[in-house]
Amino acid sequence: MKEEAKLTVGGKTYKLPVITGSEGERAIDISKLRKETGLVTLDPGFVNTANCRSNITFVDGEKGILRYRGIPVEQLAEHSSFVETAYLLINGKLPTQKQLNRFSILLNDNSLVHEDMRAFFQNFPRAAHPMGILSSMVNALRAFYPEIPERSDEEEVDITMTRLLSKVRTMAAMSYKIFKGHSLVYPRADFSYPANFLNMMFDSPVKPYTIDEDLVKALNVFWILHADHEQNCSTASVRLVGSARVNLYAAISAGICALWGPLHGGANQAVVQMLNDIHEGGGKLTPFIARAKDKNDPFRLMGFGHRVYKTFDPRGLVMKKICDRVLKKLALEDPLLDIAQRLEEVAIKDEYFVDHDLYPNIDFYSGILLRAMGIPVPMFTVMFAIGRLPGWISQWKESMDNPKWKLERPRQIYIGEKKKDYVPIAER
Ligand code: ACO
Repeated sequence: MKEEAKLTVGGKTYKLPVITGSEGERAIDISKLRKETGLVTLDPGFVNTANCRSNITFVDGEKGILRYRGIPVEQLAEHSSFVETAYLLINGKLPTQKQLNRFSILLNDNSLVHEDMRAFFQNFPRAAHPMGILSSMVNALRAFYPEIPERSDEEEVDITMTRLLSKVRTMAAMSYKIFKGHSLVYPRADFSYPANFLNMMFDSPVKPYTIDEDLVKALNVFWILHADHEQNCSTASVRLVGSARVNLYAAISAGICALWGPLHGGANQAVVQMLNDIHEGGGKLTPFIARAKDKNDPFRLMGFGHRVYKTFDPRGLVMKKICDRVLKKLALEDPLLDIAQRLEEVAIKDEYFVDHDLYPNIDFYSGILLRAMGIPVPMFTVMFAIGRLPGWISQWKESMDNPKWKLERPRQIYIGEKKKDYVPIAER
C-alpha cells in the first residue's frame, strides 16, 4: 500500500503521497498542495526541500557516505581516473575500454581554445579574480560554438560536453599564464587530462616541466572528490538557470558564479587565508576558536561545517591522506598543515563544535594540497570548478532529459506593505 501523509488545515484533512528513494530516503510530495489547499510551503535555504528526483549521486550526511552512480567515492579515488569518473557521472555507467578511449580522444580533439578568445583574457584587469574570468569565458563559449540542438543525436551531445570539459581546463591554465604575463602552453595529445593541465600551468621555455605521476594521481583524486555532490548551491543554480532552457554554457557559467562564494567553493581559498592568519598570529588557536563561537562575531571557522554532513566529510578524509602523501613525496614542511591538524584536533573535541555537528569539510585540507602542488591561491576555486564540471553537466543533462521537466520558479510569502496609493513627488 502506498504510504500517505495527512495534513489538517482549517478543519479539513488532505492526503499527501509519501515517496521513497532507492536508499530509503522518504519525502512528502507537495507538488499539488497549492492547487488543492491554496497553501504553499515555506523553507528558507531549501533545508528540507528536495528539488528533483535524481539517480546521479547519493549522499548520507549522518553516516558520511558519498556515492556516484552507486559507487563509493573512496573506491573511485583509489581505482579510477577523473576522466573515467566524468564518463560515469555523465553517462550513468563505467565505460568499457573502447568507450573510454573514444571519450579521451574527444577530450583531446576539443582541447584547443579559439584563438580569438585570447583577446578576451588579455583585456581583463590584472586584479580580476579567476572565477569571474572563468564564468565570463564559459558564457562566451556560446558565441564561438553552437549549443546542443533540441533534437540532437548522441554524438552532438558528447561533443558539446567533452568540448566544455576540455576547454575549461585549457582556459583555466591559460588565465594563469596570462595573469603571469607568460607565453601560453598548448595542450598535448600524449598527456592525460590532469598531466596536460599541470603542463599547461607550469611548463615554460626557460624551465621545462617534468610530469610527476604522483602529482598526476593526486590531481586525479582531487578532481574525483569534487566531481559531484547532488543539489549543492552551484548545482542547484545550474539546474535552476538551465530550467529556463538556456544553453549549457550559460547554465554552467551560473554554477561557476555560485561556486565562487566563500560559503561554498570559495572556502578552500578562505581556509588557507585563515590558516595563514593563525600562523602570522604566532600559531595560537584559542582566539580563532573563541571568535568562531562568539554569536556577535560573524567570523566562522572556514573548512568546518556542512549543510548535509553532520559527521566527517568522507571527501575530507581521503583529501587528508593525499595531502600527507604529497607533502612527504615533495619533502615539504608546511606550517599550515601543522596548524590545520592542531585545529582539527581541538575543534572536534570542543563542546560548541560537537553540539553544532561541525566537522572538517573537503575544503579544510584541499587548499594545503593545492599549495603543495604549486597552484596559486586565487586559482583554488577554479580547481574546484574544473572538478565539479562533470557533476554540473550530468545534472543539467538529467534535468533536460526529464520528460516531466518544469521551469523552476519558487513561491514566496509576501511580507511587504499592503496596497497604498502613489503619492506625487511634490506631496512627499
Ligand atoms: N564556524 C562556527 N560556527 C559555525 C560554522 C563554522 N564554520 N558553521 C556553522 N556554524 C554554526 C552557526 O553559527 C549556527 O550556529 P547557531 O545555530 O548557534 O546560530 C549553526 O552552526 C548552523 O549554521 P548554519 O549557517 O545555519 O548552517 P548551514 O547548514 O546553513 O551552513 C555552511 C553550512 C555554510 C557550510 C557553514 O557551516 C559554514 O559557513 N562553514 C564555513 C564555510 C565552509 O567551510 N564552506 C564550505 C562548505 S563545503 C563546500 O561547499 C564544498
